Amino acid sequence: MSQGSTSEAASTADSSWFVQDRFGLFIHWGLYSMGARHEWLMHNEQIPVETYENRYFKRFDPDLYDPKLWAQAAGDAGMKYFVITTKHHDGFCLWDSEHTDYKVTHTPHGKCLLTPMIQAFRERGMRTGLYHSLLDWHHPDYVIDEFHGPYARLPKEKRDELNRGRDQKRYAAYLHAQTRELLTKFGQVDVLWYDFSFKRENNLGKGRDDWQSEELVKLIRQLQPKVMLTDRLDLNDQPIDFKTPEQTQPRGWVTVNGQKVVWEACQTLSDSWGYHRGEQNYRTVEQLLQTLIDCVSKGGNLLLNVGPTARGEIDERALDRLSGIGRWMKRHARSIYGCTAAPDDIQTPEHSRLTYNPTTKRLYVHLFSWPYKFMHLDGLAGRVEYAQLLNDGSEVGMGVDSWHASHMHQGANPSNTLSLRLPLTRPDVAVPVVELFLK
Ligand code: GLC
Repeated sequence: MSQGSTSEAASTADSSWFVQDRFGLFIHWGLYSMGARHEWLMHNEQIPVETYENRYFKRFDPDLYDPKLWAQAAGDAGMKYFVITTKHHDGFCLWDSEHTDYKVTHTPHGKCLLTPMIQAFRERGMRTGLYHSLLDWHHPDYVIDEFHGPYARLPKEKRDELNRGRDQKRYAAYLHAQTRELLTKFGQVDVLWYDFSFKRENNLGKGRDDWQSEELVKLIRQLQPKVMLTDRLDLNDQPIDFKTPEQTQPRGWVTVNGQKVVWEACQTLSDSWGYHRGEQNYRTVEQLLQTLIDCVSKGGNLLLNVGPTARGEIDERALDRLSGIGRWMKRHARSIYGCTAAPDDIQTPEHSRLTYNPTTKRLYVHLFSWPYKFMHLDGLAGRVEYAQLLNDGSEVGMGVDSWHASHMHQGANPSNTLSLRLPLTRPDVAVPVVELFLK
């Protein structure tokens, strides 16, 4: 079971910490937090550049911004790294870039947002990830297409008109120049989260030629050889550092050409990534923890997103979820950190997920529903020394007596199946976990 044996052998990226740490915070923050109705509002409502600037850019002033509080909330939730949107599709930059005026230092806030954020998270021992949008609906050289952006729904002639004088190569040069900044101004960057390509047939959409991806990767590897890079640069025939399923959970360990690879699911608390005032459909702490556990049980990570408000706070609904997650992580983190999928010869019982720490040889059974007295684990008979509930370290009995065995429809097969005797009362935690000490 080697987590490192992936197809990215040719990459210089360091994934060793990534496959141990397992849990990170995604932060989507920018001008769209003022609109408070989805980070794509510029596209969704076809808001022209000038209107967007006049409404939001001229007024952006997160006066309550205190990244120490964010880092604390993430650290208390058990997160080990964070990824911040340096620039989203609307083109607005959260740092004092030399290559544009469309940046936070030219808003009423007037100060770089990234430097204090990175510092605050580093002080809490968390690693740094930078998200950067390949799309840019603001840049004057970015060629307008029919897929996204404020002008995507205009008739073709209109778009052609607006495209006169635009030069995607110049835009790519801007992208590269900003990449150089991001990788030289902020110390060690552990994750570079490029988003996204959309190449279609007949040369439609945008992909590697539009971003000059190959050159870009060379630059990245040269500036920060260890950084972990997403798979969204349209270079899928080349080594990648990690796959990034989004808004969906993969059904098993993510593979490329039949090989298990490093992967990270990125998921939202509700529907949007950016702050959304009206969304009521927040996931529960239990659902979110089940998602984290599901990732680790399939050999992957979870990057869980928050969208801070225009005034610079993580709102109560999100904080509530983070603190609930932290309450569980305090007692169950060792079923997450350093863990991966269980060995193939151990079957996952129903309504549960297994994670495994190959170093300590402990197997964790996460119970998504509480069984009636017994839980049967096929393939584990004779392989477990001791079992306990992880929340309180209380012993869990093993084996099934003959009276109960005779009443089980299919019986437990003692030569193959380990039966755990669980207490009647389900522990009062979001997801109960049984820790098994393997021989
Ligand atoms: C998508 C969306 C976006 C979000 C991202 C996160 O590509 O465009 O808004 O930032 O996914 O993975």
